[in-house]
Amino acid sequence: MYIVSGAKGQLGSDVCDVLKKRNIPYIGIDVDDLDITDENAVEKFFSNNNVSCFIHCAAYTAVDKAESEKELCMAVNFNGTENIARQCRKSNAKMLYVSTDYVFGGKGDEPFEVNDEKAPLNVYGESKYLGEKAVEKYCNKHFIVRTSWVFGEKNTNFIATMLKLAETRSEVNVVSDQTGSPTYSKHLARLICDIAESEKYGVYHGTNEGYCTWSDLAKKTFEIKGKAVKVNPVATKEYPTPAIRPKNSRLSKRSLDEGGFERLPEWESAVKEYLLK
Ligand SMILES: NC(=O)c1ccc[n+]([C@@H]2O[C@H](COP(=O)([O-])OP(=O)(O)OC[C@H]3O[C@@H](n4cnc5c(N)ncnc54)[C@H](OP(=O)(O)O)[C@@H]3O)[C@@H](O)[C@H]2O)c1
Repeated sequence: MYIVSGAKGQLGSDVCDVLKKRNIPYIGIDVDDLDITDENAVEKFFSNNNVSCFIHCAAYTAVDKAESEKELCMAVNFNGTENIARQCRKSNAKMLYVSTDYVFGGKGDEPFEVNDEKAPLNVYGESKYLGEKAVEKYCNKHFIVRTSWVFGEKNTNFIATMLKLAETRSEVNVVSDQTGSPTYSKHLARLICDIAESEKYGVYHGTNEGYCTWSDLAKKTFEIKGKAVKVNPVATKEYPTPAIRPKNSRLSKRSLDEGGFERLPEWESAVKEYLLK
């Protein structure tokens, strides 16, 4: 049986949809079904279910709040992930852990390779990196899929925030010195299931193709929706946030290519598909 944690979240809900379409038996769980920080509850869950593959999408994802809630963020993203990894090992189950571009330090302007040095700049990034290390330590049949700048139907995301602002504003200031790849959760969910169904264990980067800045993404959003909102590019230092963000979030797809997995569509077409559905 496949298990999907974070099943009510942005990505987890799309992963459940893909498994359903592929007729793969699965159980989608969220915090009400299983609090992953509760070690005994996780152990009991594995004894009660015949887990063959655990797709771990649940996470503490409030990046700025994490700076003042470090304990909770670590409990979910590190200890919670460790609890699952140990049980996957015990059950001889595969585990797919969704991670983030924030494990890297954001230096330079080249795409990060999967094994490049990790240097998280914020608490959330550090917690996800410790989660990666726990998965590698405890579960041999593991996949780690790092993604970035996710948007989807559930929860809020940058694109939805821009469209909300467009209701009341004729111009917005958006940072233009952070570069990465927006990723449509529906596209990523398909890739995650392709990887989880395989036995090609290892670390992958999964994002839509191409790179842009947040201000490029805002401009594209308004263009597609025909909104007359001016986007003023601003530097990160003019828009301080509690958590430091990496300037460079480009992720290399080399290992995805080597594994024979199909890359995701270009980010512009992904945004169009999302906005015009
Ligand atoms: N969003 C992005 O831009 C982005 C970028 C890179 C990587 N990622 C990674 O992608 C994955 C999916 O992210 P997402 O955007 O789908 O996040 P999301 O929408 O916030 O979903 C995360 C889910 O995890 C659940 N959860 C939180 N604490 C839990 C606990 N103690 N036990 C069980 N479940 C718990 C949440 O439930 P509640 O809502 O009830 O708390 C939520 O349903 C995460 O691993 C995230 O780190 C996301």
